[in-house]
Amino acid sequence: MQFANRFHGGLMIPLCMAALSAAAPALAAEPAAAEKNGSQKSAPTWQAFGYRIPEEIVMVVSQGSNGPANIMVAGWFMPAGGAPDSLAVAIAKERHTHKLIMETRQFVIAFPGENIEKEMIFCGTKSGRDFDKFKETKLTARPSKKVKPPLIDECIVNFECEMTHAVEVGTHTIFVGKIVNAWEHENAKSIRKLYTLGGLGGRNYGAWPIPAKDEAVPEKTKEKPAQASGKKSE
Ligand SMILES: Cc1cc2nc3c(=O)[nH]c(=O)nc-3n(C[C@H](O)[C@H](O)[C@H](O)COP(=O)(O)O)c2cc1C
Repeated sequence: MQFANRFHGGLMIPLCMAALSAAAPALAAEPAAAEKNGSQKSAPTWQAFGYRIPEEIVMVVSQGSNGPANIMVAGWFMPAGGAPDSLAVAIAKERHTHKLIMETRQFVIAFPGENIEKEMIFCGTKSGRDFDKFKETKLTARPSKKVKPPLIDECIVNFECEMTHAVEVGTHTIFVGKIVNAWEHENAKSIRKLYTLGGLGGRNYGAWPIPAKDEAVPEKTKEKPAQASGKKSE
């Protein structure tokens, strides 16, 4: 079973499991005893990987040479470097988004909040091959300044990106994008960001509160280490 399907194709899981046990019943036998290594015990990769939850969710907006702009959801996202400030997102090769980004080498990364949870689920479970997702969700497309794919007006922030690298990693391509322009919602600080809360298959979503300014850094860690420990600073 492909590791990626566990996380990004929730609907695929039961189908894959059924196919696996029908084709190779021997594999469904008793799992091997876990190997111990101090406090560590061997674990299936997909199970261990579930501990990364909660996972930040982004929406990726792309647009090909022709046709409407498309939105997908990605949890496999990260900041990828500075000078130039860059973002990276891993997109499975079968996604419509993958084809569109390869065409125009541009995309927008937007952070969704709890105000658009239903729309996020639609965009993360339906393909742009079958639906015009801006039209179906009624999310508002606003023109970007430097790239063709539009911004999502309802999102907390939008980053316009020019693709600088496309690195193939098995089932996925990691697209690295240089940020050429950034936007922030006028109510950004009061919209709670969405995170994946479920361990498997990306089927559970929820808003996770951003700490208020004073809660962000616990009081005692604000002290300099030298003062906190009573040692002299160098
Ligand atoms: C919470 C969540 C996280 C997801 N993360 C990813 C991801 O990181 N990479 C990916 O390729 N697909 C991911 N997906 C699946 C795609 O968003 C989904 O297959 C989408 O329908 C693809 O749309 P498209 O075919 O229009 O590009 C995720 C879905 C959800 C709901």
